[in-house]
Amino acid sequence: MAVIRYAGRSFSVMEGESALEALLAADDEIPNHCRSGVCQSCVMQLVAGKIDPRAQKGLKDSWQAQGLFLACQCYPDQDLEIRLPAADRMRVGCLVTGHDKLSGGIVRLRLRPQSLFDYHPGQYVTLWRDSALGRNYSLASVPLLDGDELEFHIKRFSNGRLSSWLCDCVNIGDRIELQGPGGYCFYTGGDAGQDLLLAGTGTGLAPLYGILRDALQRGHTGQIHLYHGAVNADGLYLHEALQGLVATHQNLHYHPCALTKSPGRCNDIRVEDLDQLLRCERSGLQGWKVYLCGPDEFVKKQRRHCFLAGAGLKDIYADAFIDYSQSS
Ligand code: FES
Repeated sequence: MAVIRYAGRSFSVMEGESALEALLAADDEIPNHCRSGVCQSCVMQLVAGKIDPRAQKGLKDSWQAQGLFLACQCYPDQDLEIRLPAADRMRVGCLVTGHDKLSGGIVRLRLRPQSLFDYHPGQYVTLWRDSALGRNYSLASVPLLDGDELEFHIKRFSNGRLSSWLCDCVNIGDRIELQGPGGYCFYTGGDAGQDLLLAGTGTGLAPLYGILRDALQRGHTGQIHLYHGAVNADGLYLHEALQGLVATHQNLHYHPCALTKSPGRCNDIRVEDLDQLLRCERSGLQGWKVYLCGPDEFVKKQRRHCFLAGAGLKDIYADAFIDYSQSS
């Protein structure tokens, strides 16, 4: 008989009983639905111990890397400690170490956490102004390249309370709090020769920039196609930095595109809608891994397109943004 530690209590698991059944038998409210490994509503996270790989069958690589598993498919044969995902994320105090304006009105914010902070490039954290106002932002930094500094790309919305504060009021030397990380849109290694499609609009580039640099520094050898769309060329705010990466990595292909032509700007910028461009140029995605970041509508459309173009659902990672300008 194995014992599960969960939420400060111990639960005995009988032979042939799943972790979910053991927790539910003790009246604990664990989300669940199908109880047959299909709906994934019973996802939990391993803290200590070892689970049978069958409990992770069908989960994305990045979920598995975080120790997530299906409680209804987990039949423990040894003692485990488990929790609900993200149940214990604490706020971490950070020092503002960088605050500079990029093109397109984007601010690059750099923070140094005051305590140990582990994350995968491309995950998101919640940045807090005070106890009540917080918003999610994606991590563009890479621990092995950027040390203990975290990088965020902030677009200022005219009526966005947090984005205005981050862009206009925060200064180097200030202290702010973050909470996280969360999300499963990150590079997991695995097959280094697999082709990658990274596509995003606006500051959807932030997580993609982290994922891209993480893949490159970990020696990814497959072809990597990065598509970045913006309203105009100014919105392609890391154009030169990305061209620099292309110059040093033969397997990287950068496809910037804008909805409107900007006189005097580089002629390698396509004047086209990103959604249309991807439909035309990426019609065969069998065996590819795909990362989609940007507004919810863009992500939904492209997830469907990429699936129809042959990418497996398990290989499509997405980070959809909510437009806070409508609510704050
Ligand atoms: S309850 Fe549906 S996968 Fe576990």
